[in-house]
Amino acid sequence: MRVVSGIQPTGQLHLGNYLGAIRNWVAMQDSGEFGDLLYFVADLHAISLPHDPKALRDGTLEIVAALIACGLDPDKVTLFNQAQVPQHAELQWLLNGTARMGWLNRMTQWKDKAGKNREGASIALFAYPVLQAADVLLYQATHVPVGEDQKQHLELARDIAQKFNNDFASEDAPVFTLPDPIIPEATARIMSLRDGSKKMSKSDPSEASRINLADDVDTIAQKIRKAKTDPEPLPSEVAGLADRPEAANLVGIYAAMAGTSSAAVLAEHGGQGFGQFKPALGELLAAKLGPITARFRELKDDRTALDHVLAKGAEKARALAVPTLDATYKALGLVR
Ligand code: TYM
Repeated sequence: MRVVSGIQPTGQLHLGNYLGAIRNWVAMQDSGEFGDLLYFVADLHAISLPHDPKALRDGTLEIVAALIACGLDPDKVTLFNQAQVPQHAELQWLLNGTARMGWLNRMTQWKDKAGKNREGASIALFAYPVLQAADVLLYQATHVPVGEDQKQHLELARDIAQKFNNDFASEDAPVFTLPDPIIPEATARIMSLRDGSKKMSKSDPSEASRINLADDVDTIAQKIRKAKTDPEPLPSEVAGLADRPEAANLVGIYAAMAGTSSAAVLAEHGGQGFGQFKPALGELLAAKLGPITARFRELKDDRTALDHVLAKGAEKARALAVPTLDATYKALGLVR
């Protein structure tokens, strides 16, 4: 078994990243049942949109500090950034021969991010999912823990792997393993605090739309207090949350942070108005995130230590990447 997943270094780690992905990364590490685990900062993906080089440099180290603060142990997992493992970009080029324009054109992230300005979008934004496929296929990943929004990209990675194996390998000796996404049932999609129809996202211009893992207690309380809700009290059963996306989101967040189900939260808080429920949620979040925030603050300015983690991780990742890359060149008939 081999677990691989990544996160972009654009902006701060937020509650959606934590509950949708990172918490699972840590759980898989702690279970000891998953063999090799590789987690990386997707810095190469971050150049697909206009960006500030200094912010990218700082953001890359900050995200490493945040991941360690969340519980990842660089001695137990391989923690690295793509830019120090050139095999990612190399494999992407090789897979560009297999990926089809039509497949990429159907990607919802491409449609959302390019918007109406497709002519002005970068080639990197269009080819983004091919790099993502390379990220996981390079290591023969069997499991890829992600939030719901990455499901389509992983289906594409499987399609690319399958077509490549069909076209260039024999059935009994495939070049690539088909990866399975691992998506948490209850927290696959944490929504914006300002709009229950939009996912919580690093790129939302409104800071009030998300809880960042580095927010202090007062900021968390304030963001929860201001979160959009409806005027009804909480229902006592989950069925009563249908058509109430903002209420469902807050109850879901409470349940995830308390390690219980939405049904159990409603059994306790059903009938309460948001004036009562929001402070309880704010306190729970502050209590659970407080230790993560404190650890993050301790780690984030020790650039030497963070650089060292990335350098060590990259060395391990490169060694694991080389055999698959060699097999890919060979299967394609490229002379080296
Ligand atoms: P990114 O950086 O947008 O998000 C990192 C992880 O957080 C999850 N996530 C969420 N989960 C639940 N609710 C939300 N509101 C929410 N927002 C984000 C994402 O699903 C993701 O698991 N393209 C990827 C990075 C990537 C990658 C990969 C992932 C590059 N290569 C290979 C897996 C495998 C991205 O931009 O994630």
